[in-house]
Amino acid sequence: MIKRVLVKFSGEALASESGFGIESSILDYVALELKSLVDIGAEVGIVIGGGNFIRGVSAAKSGLIKRTSGDYMGMLATVINGVAIQEALEYHGLDVRVQSALEIKEVCETYINRRSIRHLEKGRVVIFVAGTGNPFFTTDTAATLRAVEIGAEIIIKATKVNGVYDKDPVKFSDAVMLKQLSYEQALKDNIKVMDDTAIALAKDNALPIIVCNMFKKGNLLNIVQQNEDAIYSKVANLNLYKEIK
Ligand code: GTP
Repeated sequence: MIKRVLVKFSGEALASESGFGIESSILDYVALELKSLVDIGAEVGIVIGGGNFIRGVSAAKSGLIKRTSGDYMGMLATVINGVAIQEALEYHGLDVRVQSALEIKEVCETYINRRSIRHLEKGRVVIFVAGTGNPFFTTDTAATLRAVEIGAEIIIKATKVNGVYDKDPVKFSDAVMLKQLSYEQALKDNIKVMDDTAIALAKDNALPIIVCNMFKKGNLLNIVQQNEDAIYSKVANLNLYKEIK
């Protein structure tokens, strides 16, 4: 079983069909999926995007809002989502701490790595919000950074699709799911499981990236328990054994 894991999901995942805001039934579903991991003793860190409220890049498109300001707006959006997940997890009886990369101490704790690790050791879920605290970095990069910092064994990128495909499965019916690929392949073939910065950071730290469908009930648990039924794609250092030798 995986002991410590970081789960990243997009803000849009929490939204209804419109793609905006937080749909309480989805929030509840996500909370219960996460709870199943804590219930078997996994230590869980969470990073969530903010795209269900605002995205820095899109906000800056018109030129009216500077990219840096747009990105800070996006960071604040992740705080809203993080607090919502905290509430939903607490509703289901879990201990949760939200830690922010930007200081907003009336709302939540500020990110302190040693403190987050203590929280995890005590069985608390830690939700990392406000990205890295810097513009020009995605929440995928923030998630990878936090995963490395807390010593997570894997990062799970929870999406709406089962894994990584050789082409867009929505457009092409013959798209094939790639069960395993190397970081180099993901970067070279421009397979955007995450942005290049995030993949490079994972590669440098040999952190496996698991891409899975968060709407497949029980899948997160199957992955953490390393069950054969688990459905996912893995981006990892496929030559690790050879390199060590
Ligand atoms: P231990 O020291 O391991 O017992 O952890 P703890 O998190 O329970 O202790 P602490 O007394 O630090 O926190 C108590 C509560 O206050 C928790 O719900 C924290 O999330 C919250 N808290 C701690 N620091 C801050 C802060 O700077 N801002 C906000 N808003 N809440 C905080």
